[in-house]
Amino acid sequence: MSYHELLVNDIPISTLESVAISAILRASDIAKEGFYSSLTIQEKSGPHDVVTQFDREAEHAIIETISNTFPDHAFLGEETGSRGVPASAITWVIDPIDGTWNFARQIPSFGCSLAAMYQNTVYVGVVIDPIANELFVAKKGYGATMNGKKLSISPRSTLSESGISLRIEMLKSVPENLGVLRRSGSAVLDMCYVAKGSLEGFVDRSINIWDFAAAMLIVQEAGGIVTTLNNTPLLLDPAKKQSIIATNGLIHKELLKWISTEKE
Ligand code: IPD
Ligand code: CA
Ligand code: CA
Repeated sequence: MSYHELLVNDIPISTLESVAISAILRASDIAKEGFYSSLTIQEKSGPHDVVTQFDREAEHAIIETISNTFPDHAFLGEETGSRGVPASAITWVIDPIDGTWNFARQIPSFGCSLAAMYQNTVYVGVVIDPIANELFVAKKGYGATMNGKKLSISPRSTLSESGISLRIEMLKSVPENLGVLRRSGSAVLDMCYVAKGSLEGFVDRSINIWDFAAAMLIVQEAGGIVTTLNNTPLLLDPAKKQSIIATNGLIHKELLKWISTEKE
C-alpha cells in the first residue's frame, strides 16, 4: 500500500481490487466450465429472461470469496438479492453472468461483473469475458485496464465513423450517417468495448444497477461518459431500472439526439 492510497471505509482501494479480482476469476471459471457442459435453463420473467444453475453457482462463489475476507460487507446480487446493510457497509454489486440468453444459447458472448460501492459511489469495478479471457478492472481515480494494459476510449468524434451498440427500437429514426451497429447481448461487455475504444457508444433501456455499476466505472476511468438518456447521472438505486448511454464523450450529444426517451 502506498502512503497516499485511497481508503474506502478504512480499506485500501487496492485490497478491494485484489479481492474483487479473486472473486471474479472464480465466477469466470464456473461460467466457462458451465458454458461447455449441459445447462438447466429456467425462465424468469419470460422467454428472453433466463437463468441457469451456473448463474447461481457463480454468484455464490463471488459472495463466498468476498465474505472470507470481509465478513461484514453487504451484497446486492441479481440472483440472490440483497443481504447486509448497504448504508453502513461496502456493498458488492454482482451480475454473475451478464448475457445469460447468449450463454444459454451457446453463444460465447457474456461477462461476469462485480462492483464495490460505498455511500453511492462505485470505487472498484471488474468485468471479465471468460471465453475471450479479457479482464477489465477500474479503480476510482486510478484509471482502467484490460489484462493489465491501460484503457482509453476512442478518439472518433462523428457518428458516421462510430461503432454503436443499441436496440434499434430506441432510435427515433435511423440517422443517414449512422456508422456500424454491433450489439453483443451483454451490457457489461458492450460498455467495456466502449472503454477499450472498440465501440464509440452503447445505449440500452431498463437495465438494473448490476448491469452497469462495474462497467460504468470502467468507461469513466477510460475517459468516457455514462448518463441517463436525459444526460443526467445514473442513480445507484437497486430498486430502479434505468435507461443508459455510455460513450467516448465525443459523440454523446450527437447520439442522444437520435434516441427516443419515450419508453424510459
Ligand atoms: C441482460 C443483458 C442485456 C440487456 C438486458 C439485461 P442478463 O442481462 O445485459 O444485454 O439488454 O437488459 O437484462 O439478464 O443476461 O444478466
Ligand atoms: Ca445483466
Ligand atoms: Ca445476469
